Amino acid sequence: MKRQRVIPLAGSVWHYHRTRGPRMDLPSVITIDGPAGAGKSTLGALLAERLGYLYFDTGLMYRALTLAAMRAGIDLHERQAVEALAARTRLEVTEPRVNDGRQYTVLADDTDVTWAIRDPAVERNVSLVSSYPGVRRELTRQQRAIGQRGRVVMVGRDIGSVVMPDAELKIFLQASLDERARRRANERVDAPPVAEVREAIARRDALDEHVMRPAPDAVVLHTDGLSPAEELAWILDYLGRRPGSA
Ligand code: DC
Repeated sequence: MKRQRVIPLAGSVWHYHRTRGPRMDLPSVITIDGPAGAGKSTLGALLAERLGYLYFDTGLMYRALTLAAMRAGIDLHERQAVEALAARTRLEVTEPRVNDGRQYTVLADDTDVTWAIRDPAVERNVSLVSSYPGVRRELTRQQRAIGQRGRVVMVGRDIGSVVMPDAELKIFLQASLDERARRRANERVDAPPVAEVREAIARRDALDEHVMRPAPDAVVLHTDGLSPAEELAWILDYLGRRPGSA
């Protein structure tokens, strides 16, 4: 992976727009991979909004399939049953269809599962479901079809390496375990002890290790101590400095 020194440039978002204007040579597909709590969703959504691109969080699909399997009463250890379900379940991510603070609507066979996929029981089981090769093959196929339409920021664990290996800009977000735990604890309304969240994230890191595939040509951004706005500024500045950009 290319290692980049992180230089938060004060006000560079505005600098970028003032001095360069809208770019004509933006990458059509931008991938953001990284571990849980590294800030992928926040940065991905901000970047997509800024560029007028679709924001597509691929983790939603693994979560929705896990929930569908649980609701169908499938034994999640039955690999073939889960893989068969992946092949016949219609997963869709659309613009918000209900005005309740959501950023998108997730449908599994036309059932709205937007909030249900955040359930802790889904979180406990999603690593197992996403470890099955048939599940990954099927969801990768669907994700690729969406990515190939272009003008998209795709977020996940293996997007730059497996799903969209030809993407023109690949970002790998990194942050220390302590920082990720602090961020997740702050996000939650029930204010859990940071140590407890830290332990849960460390557990997920271990479970997700097999699906984490950093692309060798990804630019690595260490986000400890950076705000989402500073991360966005850094990415926009990096876009402007890429070889080949005007
Ligand atoms: O990003 P997230 O926490 O919502 O992802 C949920 C799970 O889905 C995560 O435990 C790993 C899996 N996942 C995956 O295997 N491949 C992806 N591209 C995205 C997520």
